[in-house]
Amino acid sequence: MIIAIDGPAASGKGTIARRLAAHFDLPHLDTGMLYRATALALMDEGGPLDDVERAVAAARGLALVDFDETRLRGREMGEAASVVAAMGPVRAALVDMQRRFTLHPRGAVLDGRDIGTVIAPEADVKIFVTASPETRAQRRALELKGRGEAVDYAAVLADIRKRDERDSHRSSAPLKAAADARILDTTDLDIDGAVKAALAIVEKAGG
Ligand code: DC
Repeated sequence: MIIAIDGPAASGKGTIARRLAAHFDLPHLDTGMLYRATALALMDEGGPLDDVERAVAAARGLALVDFDETRLRGREMGEAASVVAAMGPVRAALVDMQRRFTLHPRGAVLDGRDIGTVIAPEADVKIFVTASPETRAQRRALELKGRGEAVDYAAVLADIRKRDERDSHRSSAPLKAAADARILDTTDLDIDGAVKAALAIVEKAGG
């Protein structure tokens, strides 16, 4: 069974994907980490983020990168990832790795922006997780604070809006719900409620 979870930043898709993977004992790939790691490799080289050739080389060399999870999950890297993810050649360099992940004999759970539309259009279940920008900014601010980053709610909300705009309007694989995705709005749900609703969608689809 392949489960595709897409949605904007801090919608809850990552936690939902992780919990569904644990529930169904499936491997899970957080595809945002690939774009974050590409951006981090570029920044560590000291190059500009908009150098497409170097960004593609960084994406191709990802297996060699020692992931530093704390830096990858930081606020700065989310924004940088959104910039490199808008480049078609960078996305193309990361497709095979993501496609291979879907070929696990039991299936897989992948979360990102284009899983149901581009990476796994054949997925058995597609869920598009969303929530209001204000709710997502509150969640992201709490998460960053919990990891010791100094945060200002207004700045986080501005980041979220900017990223939504860039991720949704880029020409290559923009963030959008697949025509056959179920929309899950988590604005008024806590995480347990959101996971329960996602589980119900998967079970209804025959999972
Ligand atoms: O899900 P995230 O916040 O870790 O993603 C970081 C950025 O990476 C996001 O703003 C857009 C990009 N991304 C993408 O374009 N496609 C994906 N499948 C996953 C992430």
